[in-house]
Amino acid sequence: MKHEVVQDYYGKVLQSSADLQTNACCTPAEMPEWLKGVLSKVHDDVLMRYYGCGLIAPDSLEGARILDLGCGAGRDVYALSAMVGDTGEVVGVDMTDEQLDVARAHQEFHRDAFGLSRVNTAFHKGYIEELDKLPLEPGSFDVIVSNCVINLAQDKEAVLRGVYNLLKPGGEMYFSDVYADRRIPEALAKDEVLYGECLSGALYWNDFETFARRAGFDDPRLVEHRPLTIENPKLEEKVSPIKFTSATYRLWKLEGLERSCEDYGQAVIYKGTIKNSEKVFRLDGHHVIEAGKVFPVCGNTWAMLHDTRLREHFEFIGNFDTHYGIFEGCGEGSPFEAEVADASCC
Ligand SMILES: C[S@@+](CC[C@H](N)C(=O)[O-])C[C@H]1O[C@@H](n2cnc3c(N)ncnc32)[C@H](O)[C@@H]1O
Repeated sequence: MKHEVVQDYYGKVLQSSADLQTNACCTPAEMPEWLKGVLSKVHDDVLMRYYGCGLIAPDSLEGARILDLGCGAGRDVYALSAMVGDTGEVVGVDMTDEQLDVARAHQEFHRDAFGLSRVNTAFHKGYIEELDKLPLEPGSFDVIVSNCVINLAQDKEAVLRGVYNLLKPGGEMYFSDVYADRRIPEALAKDEVLYGECLSGALYWNDFETFARRAGFDDPRLVEHRPLTIENPKLEEKVSPIKFTSATYRLWKLEGLERSCEDYGQAVIYKGTIKNSEKVFRLDGHHVIEAGKVFPVCGNTWAMLHDTRLREHFEFIGNFDTHYGIFEGCGEGSPFEAEVADASCC
């Protein structure tokens, strides 16, 4: 879809979240109390133009440098600016003037609202497929977030490549987006409303995983997901029987991640030192780590905790010296085991 069509949708057709025709660009109300507290300080003009589909607030952000792709009116930029604090910075990129105008108008307001000593936000106009054309230093971001935007991009692989280039080693992309259970037929992808509503530009989830690996992000981790209900009978009928899911992934820029989860007999202990997650640290949907408990991990999970900003919050047991086979805790198993069990004779 042409950029101008999407710009028109987010700059002119939609004036607020109430104008959306489906629930694809909506985030369910459940969220931690501390985050509700942060969002309650965000300006109403910004909040009413929120079109995200998930929560993009990973743990341990103090002092981090963050980039938000398709930041819109800036709700997530401002919430994250409170989390990174005075020593961090949050940069938003968007291609739509009307959205950026609202975001830029409230920088001082949020500095005051969050009690910061300086404005720690910046906004750039540009296309997320062409991040290299923006004044952004390669390898300079700890975290890159995005909320319901990649589905709108013309070239999703170019976005992921640009993200990889801008992340520091050990940095991560943490983002929510809409995925389809199959590749979207071309006729639907040309429908401007379905596209603008974040449905018909959605990637088939398995293509996304392939694109992510090709861009350098081995072992994409699914944090959470929920089915989208659309809640517009006419549009539901148009897209039927395709099913859509809103999902949050984290992609780590780590050299040496393996294709599969391998067992080196390693374990970690979470120290309970991350603000707002003192009892339990949640790396992804499969790794919910209670403080103080020895938690066995595969080599990839070890790297995600050891070679990143999360390191100071963990104790590490073991090393990579001895390989014990596939790590079954991540849902993978040996392809030979079933055959051995089934074998009735030689
Ligand atoms: C669904 S809204 C989400 C906005 C924001 N992330 C939020 O949660 O409110 C999509 C935003 O992405 C921007 N956008 C879409 N495609 C883009 C592209 N290729 N480059 C830059 N911005 C884009 C639109 O202008 C719009 O502001």
